[in-house]
Amino acid sequence: MNVLVVGGGGREHALVWTLAKSPGVKRLCAAPGNAGIADQAECVPISAGDIPALVRFAREHRVDLTVIGPEAPLVSGIVDAFAESGMRAFGPSRAASLLEGSKSFAKGVMQEAGVACARSQTFTERRKAQEFARGLGLPVVVKADGLAQGKGVRICHTEDEISQTLSDMMEKACFGDAGRKVVIEEYLTGEECSILALVDGHTCVLLEPSQDHKRLHDGDMGPNTGGMGAYSPVPFINHALQKAIQEEIFLPVVDALAGRGTLYRGVLYAGLMLTEEGPKVLEFNCRFGDPETQAVLPRLKSDLLAHMLAVCEGRLAQEHLEWDERAAVCVVAASGGYPGKYEKGKLIEGLERAAQLRDLMIFHSGTCRDPETKRLVTDGGRVLSVTGMGRDIQAARSRVYSALKELSFENMIYRSDISDRSKAPGLRRSA
Ligand code: AMP
Ligand code: GLY
Repeated sequence: MNVLVVGGGGREHALVWTLAKSPGVKRLCAAPGNAGIADQAECVPISAGDIPALVRFAREHRVDLTVIGPEAPLVSGIVDAFAESGMRAFGPSRAASLLEGSKSFAKGVMQEAGVACARSQTFTERRKAQEFARGLGLPVVVKADGLAQGKGVRICHTEDEISQTLSDMMEKACFGDAGRKVVIEEYLTGEECSILALVDGHTCVLLEPSQDHKRLHDGDMGPNTGGMGAYSPVPFINHALQKAIQEEIFLPVVDALAGRGTLYRGVLYAGLMLTEEGPKVLEFNCRFGDPETQAVLPRLKSDLLAHMLAVCEGRLAQEHLEWDERAAVCVVAASGGYPGKYEKGKLIEGLERAAQLRDLMIFHSGTCRDPETKRLVTDGGRVLSVTGMGRDIQAARSRVYSALKELSFENMIYRSDISDRSKAPGLRRSA
């Protein structure tokens, strides 16, 4: 089969790396890909947002399956555009992607389905939003309704912060139209985790659980980022909890959508808070997580392509996913300044040495070749996602940190405590 992966980050590198192992894949392309993906797939210079060009490429190159990485093209309807051209794409339709594309829509579906989440209300009027927030008590969480590149959530500790955030989002439109409508919700405490599931419209099969590290600095301090590292499995998420998450969160939401005439097909990501009252949904994403994918897919032993085809064809109930018992830890090496301003074009050194380590994968998040020297340089905030595997989390962790010692670029930063929460759940959360 000819397979095209859309996107160019660490998540897409992990997807390409996993699909490359599938016996069913004959030709593998990525659009636009990156310098690391180029080692395993043909990179074509089409951006992930250029839906007409992607459809054209897939038709001309007889692509059998297109796998969509990022949320923006999904929310814009890329899967519908492929379907209209008679082609198959892995990911939810525009209507189903609203679970990520509109937080108020997701809340409505959860309410209808009786799924546990933070108490909340949606507002388009600032005064009413402020009033509701005041009634919730501090801290309060303010969320832009639409897509805001992972930056649309603010945890406000004072009345002034609430006021400033509402003004930024609703009046100054700091996220464009995405923040004109806001969801205000109560602040939840507990341990966070990421549960991804394959969904074929009706059947949900959970992937192995993982835990992301969203804050920039060790000890969960500093600003929120796209994710600085992840590990899998998560020792405090046992089978019983996974079953509850499947039956009380995933299935009701997928059934509620189906009841509205919208089949969810693709991967569904639930960001959960494990509270004292049980798991509650913080957010849904309509795609694989980044960097969760770099920690979860290396543990998948069965054939990802076969699973994806089963999702597209509505026959997931017959699929069996097989997992490596070993643990995986992924640490992101980022450019100094991220998630704010940072420089690009820094020479990356030590990759060959690090790559010699056993059970180690270096997924590229933001890299490219310097056009003149052809050497590998940084090209993004998150630069490399380094994943180590081991018999347990500790062994995987040591492997990945040994590899990071070999790697360098100017102003490289990374957290030194990825996976430490696996030992001490329930201690965090000072917001
Ligand atoms: P989201 O994009 O909705 O996942 O939010 C980003 C981050 O904000 C989450 O990973 C949580 O750490 C935090 N967050 C979101 N909603 C809440 C909430 N209701 N209570 C506490 N923290 C939250
Ligand atoms: N790691 C968080 C996300 O993918 O949204």
